[in-house]
This record gives sequence, C-alpha cells and structure tokens, in this order.
Amino acid sequence: MNETMNTILNRRSIRAYKEDQLKEEELQTIIEAGKFAPSAINEQCWHFTIIQNKELLHKINKACKEIMIKSGNKMFAERAKDENFSVLYNAPTFIIISGDEKAVAPQVDCALAMENMFLAAEAMNIGSCWIHAVINLLGTEEGKALKEELQIPEGFAPYCSAAFGNKAADSSKAPRKEGTVTILR
Ligand SMILES: Cc1cc2nc3c(=O)[nH]c(=O)nc-3n(C[C@H](O)[C@H](O)[C@H](O)COP(=O)(O)O)c2cc1C
Repeated sequence: MNETMNTILNRRSIRAYKEDQLKEEELQTIIEAGKFAPSAINEQCWHFTIIQNKELLHKINKACKEIMIKSGNKMFAERAKDENFSVLYNAPTFIIISGDEKAVAPQVDCALAMENMFLAAEAMNIGSCWIHAVINLLGTEEGKALKEELQIPEGFAPYCSAAFGNKAADSSKAPRKEGTVTILR
C-alpha cells in the first residue's frame, strides 16, 4: 500500500509513553508538518506551544486532575483520584496549538495542523494522542495564569492539545463506523 496511506491507517491514539524525550530533529519535523497544514486564506493563524519542561508538565497534569475531581462526573473524578493516572499519559512532549481568534477559521486551521503533526509523528513511529482536558483547563479562571505562563499570545485561544512521545504500548485499532459515506455519481 502507498506509504502515506499506511501512515494514516497505522496512526492510533497512544496512551502509554516511554520516558525518553523526542530527538530535536524529530520535534522539528513534527513542527514543520504542523506549519505546512492548509489554512483559510493562508492566514496561518496558529501558534505552537511545545512543552517539554517536566515541572510544567506535572503542573498541567495536576491542574487537569483537580478540574476532573470538581467536574461532578463520577467516572472522571474516580480516574483523577488515582495517583498513577496521568491526563497526559506521562508523555515527555506536549503541544498546544492556539489560533488567532480574529482569523477566519482558527479552530479548523489548528485542527488541520494538529492532524499533520500526528501523521508526521506516526511516519517516524512516534506516538501521539489528542488530550482535550488541557483545552478545557485553559478556558477556566484557574487556567488563565497558566495560559500566561505558557506565553500563549494575546488574542489567541488554545484549540488543540496533544501528547507526543515514543510509544510504550500500541493501541488497539478503534473500529470505524459504517454508513458515514454518501457518494453521489
Ligand atoms: C477533539 C478530540 C478530543 C479527544 N480527547 C481525548 C482525550 O482527552 N483523551 C484521550 O485519551 N483521547 C482523546 N481523543 C482521542 C480519541 O479518543 C481517538 O481519536 C478515538 O478514540 C479514535 O481512536 P484513534 O485515534 O486511535 O483512531 C480525542 C480526539 C479528538 C479528535
């Protein structure tokens, strides 16, 4: 099968990571892939925040877990109370993509950039997983200070966030739904 198609079909959301950090060249390749996503009227309205600082990763994980405990959702709360559970799956690299809120379609642009990054990672056998809890966190009052600490530019909103790292375990193939396609000829 075509190499690109293989990469698309093999990418899975990975939820267990090795401790070792990505090589600088690998990180730069992933960033480059994000930057080369299409964007509405080529605005490239994105800003990429790469977090590899262990203390910061720990802080984000802790803040997300606190929100999960307070959420009122019993399942989330139970999960978050487990000391061994990491919202970021202990990944060594975490990437947030924020978009200029005044752009034409920032949410779409950022999501396309993130998928490009997922595929570039998979092409190097690097795992990735979208983690939405961090976007929820950054939208809260508690998340405001963190947004500043992460140096997310003024007027930009975080839309996508994901873990990246070397895979410690593969994920099973998530089945795809039937009946989601209409072809009109
Ligand atoms: C908008 C969005 C939010 C997601 N949030 C999470 C998340 O918070 N934690 C998680 O483990 N996976 C999350 N995922 C990953 C999905 O669960 C995953 O893509 C889906 O189950 C299909 O599996 P696959 O990616 O292995 O094909 C998210 C995916 C998307 C697109």
